[in-house]
Amino acid sequence: MATDHGGYAMKEFLKKKLEEAGYEIVDFGTYSEESVDYPDFIHPLAKAVNDGEYERGIIMCGSGNGAQMTANKHQNVRAGLCWNEEQTRLTRQHNDANIMSIPGRYIPFEQAWEMVKIFLTTEFEGGRHLRRIKKIPIKCE
Ligand code: RB5
Repeated sequence: MATDHGGYAMKEFLKKKLEEAGYEIVDFGTYSEESVDYPDFIHPLAKAVNDGEYERGIIMCGSGNGAQMTANKHQNVRAGLCWNEEQTRLTRQHNDANIMSIPGRYIPFEQAWEMVKIFLTTEFEGGRHLRRIKKIPIKCE
């Protein structure tokens, strides 16, 4: 998990829920409400997922946008912006998202928890969706 100050309170809430559910969490910060720059916290998590160190990442910022944009700079990352349950399910089924980005300031924490559970348990459908996600990375010549 990683966030800036905009998602700090949500991260703490979700971390507790995940730990209670038996998940082992790695917390990349931030660790307080103090104003920080989201790339400083999102890049280390995204690199770890990119390198295969972790299977899934959960990131937040106020809107979810800056965190998602940062994470998607990493070639092997597919970070989906998740605002509701259906969108979260689709980003797993159709996009094989390995990171979910949640707007820490704009959705209820309990709804975010429902979304996290969906993100962690929904399978990728493969097939035509695999063909499509294979075309996402830019091949350098
Ligand atoms: C911080 O105020 C806010 O800009 C940040 O959390 C995020 O929403 C950026 O995309």
